[in-house]
Amino acid sequence: MPSSASSSPGDTAAAPPQEPALQAHFDRTIARDQRVEPRDWMPEGYRRTLIRQIAQHAHSEIIGMQPEGAWITRAPSLRRKAILFAKVQDEAGHGLYLYSAAETLGADRDDLTDRLIEGRQKYSSIFNYPTPTFADVGVIGWFVDGAAICNQVPLCRSSYGPYARAMVRVCKEESFHQRQGYELLRTMMAGTQAQRDMVQDAVDRWWWPSLMMFGPPDDDSPNSAQSMAWRIKRHSNDELRQKFVDMTVPQAEKLGVTLPDPELKWNEERGHHDFGTPDFSELMRVIKGDGPCNAERMARRRTAHEEGAWVREAAAAHAAKQARRTAERARGEEKEHAA
Ligand SMILES: [Fe+2]
Ligand SMILES: [Fe+2]
Repeated sequence: MPSSASSSPGDTAAAPPQEPALQAHFDRTIARDQRVEPRDWMPEGYRRTLIRQIAQHAHSEIIGMQPEGAWITRAPSLRRKAILFAKVQDEAGHGLYLYSAAETLGADRDDLTDRLIEGRQKYSSIFNYPTPTFADVGVIGWFVDGAAICNQVPLCRSSYGPYARAMVRVCKEESFHQRQGYELLRTMMAGTQAQRDMVQDAVDRWWWPSLMMFGPPDDDSPNSAQSMAWRIKRHSNDELRQKFVDMTVPQAEKLGVTLPDPELKWNEERGHHDFGTPDFSELMRVIKGDGPCNAERMARRRTAHEEGAWVREAAAAHAAKQARRTAERARGEEKEHAA
């Protein structure tokens, strides 16, 4: 990357004469499938789109800790508790990588948190559904983490370097999440009839909301084309949804559950499964705040933020003290050197 690609914050606002050259360099980077890095010049729209997408992704990871986190204290065995603990903790880690990736674009983490808490930025609609039974933990792992894998594996090749690199580790962990969910469901399916019914009930409740995780249909998704042109996104919503369905159907057969869609069948000609249309008006309703658990999730997040204020203050005070000590030591060494 030539050093001319870096810019001071004022550059873009003032539209300086060198911008066409910078734009051309950016376009070449994208066309050659190379990565855009934090210090490179980038169009404001690209930066804004990425901040919005990465922030939404980060918020989803953090809010996503809640539906399953509620089962940690009630897990049926020590083994299940340890697995669930590790999984929920991973999601916190994903949130933190992603907030850091957003910071490389000039976003401020406190500001992003405020936007979430004030409802100005969204998180994935899926986390607004309740988890009344332990089978929900299994189905979330299988469906929700499975859908996350479909969405996130292509993001490992996203054009923005820090986002793409964060996704590599995130995807490895999502793969563990999906497996632990599926393994939990297999155990329950080998159990009593009541356990099998519990699994089927959870499958019935989560199937359609999971399909909605891929967003609205392509012809109703205005920002997708630009995101694909910038190679932030690699596949359309409908392509990813199809991939998820094709991947999940044989797993459901193996597990012995029925996916609640009468239109679901293999289409020999297309080489894909045909399936019904999710109720996208429900998706819009839930995104706008009217899902079964939106209020509860936000209230919990707000309380956690308020209760964590002392930790942030203590961490800041500790960092300031360390910085002071490092500076004092450096001054001491300088004096010694001079003497
Ligand atoms: Fe995650
Ligand atoms: Fe996950």
